[in-house]
Amino acid sequence: FAADAQRNGDLHRDYIDDRNAKSQDTLYTMSNGAPYPHPYEAQRVGENGPLLLQDFHLIDLLSHFDRERIPERVVHAKGSGAHGYYKTTDPIDDLSIADLFQAGKQCPITIRFSTVGGESGSHDCARDPRGFSIKFRTEEGNWDMVANNTPVFFLRDPAKFPHFIHTQKRDPATNLTHADDSTAFWDYLSQNPESIHQVMVLMGDRGIPDGYRFMNGYAGHTLKLVNKAGEWVYAQFHFKSKQGIKFITQADSASKSPDHSQKDLYFAIENGEYPGWDVSIQTMKPKEAEELWEKQKINVFDLTHVWPQGQFPLRKVGELFLNENVKNYFAEIEQVTFNPAHMVPGIEPSADPVLQSRLFSYPETHRHRVGANYMQLPVNAPKVAYRMANFQRNGNMAFYNQGPRPNYLSSIEPISFRERAVDLDKTHGHFIGEAVTFLSEIRPEDFNAPRALWEKVFDDGAKERFIGNVSGHMANCSDKEIIKRQIGIFREVSEDIASRLEKATGVEGYPGIAGLRFNGTHNGMAKDKSLRNAN
Ligand code: HEM
Repeated sequence: FAADAQRNGDLHRDYIDDRNAKSQDTLYTMSNGAPYPHPYEAQRVGENGPLLLQDFHLIDLLSHFDRERIPERVVHAKGSGAHGYYKTTDPIDDLSIADLFQAGKQCPITIRFSTVGGESGSHDCARDPRGFSIKFRTEEGNWDMVANNTPVFFLRDPAKFPHFIHTQKRDPATNLTHADDSTAFWDYLSQNPESIHQVMVLMGDRGIPDGYRFMNGYAGHTLKLVNKAGEWVYAQFHFKSKQGIKFITQADSASKSPDHSQKDLYFAIENGEYPGWDVSIQTMKPKEAEELWEKQKINVFDLTHVWPQGQFPLRKVGELFLNENVKNYFAEIEQVTFNPAHMVPGIEPSADPVLQSRLFSYPETHRHRVGANYMQLPVNAPKVAYRMANFQRNGNMAFYNQGPRPNYLSSIEPISFRERAVDLDKTHGHFIGEAVTFLSEIRPEDFNAPRALWEKVFDDGAKERFIGNVSGHMANCSDKEIIKRQIGIFREVSEDIASRLEKATGVEGYPGIAGLRFNGTHNGMAKDKSLRNAN
């Protein structure tokens, strides 16, 4: 982070200086820089008289205090982070022109890990996916990888996201979360069965990682890599922990500190045990994506599915390490803004509709959460190899306002442009058609990967804990019909899961989903056609 502040001029250097200054080397002043004798003083009319309006010191102190809070992230509010670096070990210049993937390249990074549903003061050991966001400060701009610790997600229809998240937020009336009342949570899941793979992971051992060092990261979304010739492939990014995977059981989670993951990360770095991850990719040619859909019904734009690693093997690209704790949590982690739309030449979005929606949602929330000029904050500002320029000016806190340079495309003082390296307009014709209103449909293939998880990955102990985790959470679900439906969905994964859950919950589930209509997903597996449409 500190490495090459100089590329960005004096403002960032000032921040670095300030970040490293010791208290002993400072002088107490008011916010205008005027020295003030003592921070506890206030001006009064005599010893027992009223306060004075002219006491700017006191008024400014209180007013600033009143404004200390910014909105917390609407999701992923509780998090931890650190700085470090990425280096390319195995260049992929055959696949992408991205500067950071060329031989010998290295760049500073910041990572923020998080839980998803809880508030900023919530428990680190919640059963929840974990966020895994990486800001790569490349010489050609910032690339933000806003990933999770699970390769799949709960949904593939973007409009469902706020609904699903609301089921994990406080109830409008009771103000309780799903820890106390899990009815809404299971109601949603039992009406949207494409969530099942993510539910299996969430309720399994990986549902509570033992701190952030011991988990992997996955882009989940398909991206595109573009090379010099303008050819492109689809790509999935994986970040594999060099520390291995460790988890905490539900029972053990209760005894952990609410800041377990924060402590673990901070002190590991403080003690010089720098955590690292291997960066790898899976790639797929457009033709292969068509075949994958035709033969195996796996759509590369559907992040409830993974790409089979036997068919699309991992190829290592590089490594990243965290070796520097933040000096100021608010400035460097609370105000850091990760945005999936921050891409660099050589990396492009795919047509995944959830990704496309995120490209809008993140910068939108950043303007609200941090302010219009959030990109000017030192932790967010690009550290590029050239002096950057554009025509964005003014707004609150425009402290880097591009000097006296023209604020329009001037022919008198022209700025320079880089030629387009490749034609970036090539889309995948096979998947493009007429505009439609779309809601996804549940298919038998949606249960294949969850079934493999149960049958081939979970051992006996993991299965037992899984049943305990699901039935324990369902104990706070007040509607039996919801449990019946969810067991019906689990039965499509495995009869074994369903019958064990029936025993554990005392509720007899539906025999499967053939007789169900879902309000969130078309049921492509319904026997009776009238049940197929979501209502
Ligand atoms: C944070 C929206 C899906 C990973 C956020 C934030 C919003 C958001 C508004 C808060 C950002 C901030 O205040 O800085 C959405 C929407 C989604 C979606 C609308 C779907 C339509 C996903 C998916 C993933 C993901 C699929 C992972 C594959 C994250 C992470 C953060 C985050 C890691 C935390 C970023 C940080 O550390 O600052 N999301 N999200 N989200 N989201 Fe999503």
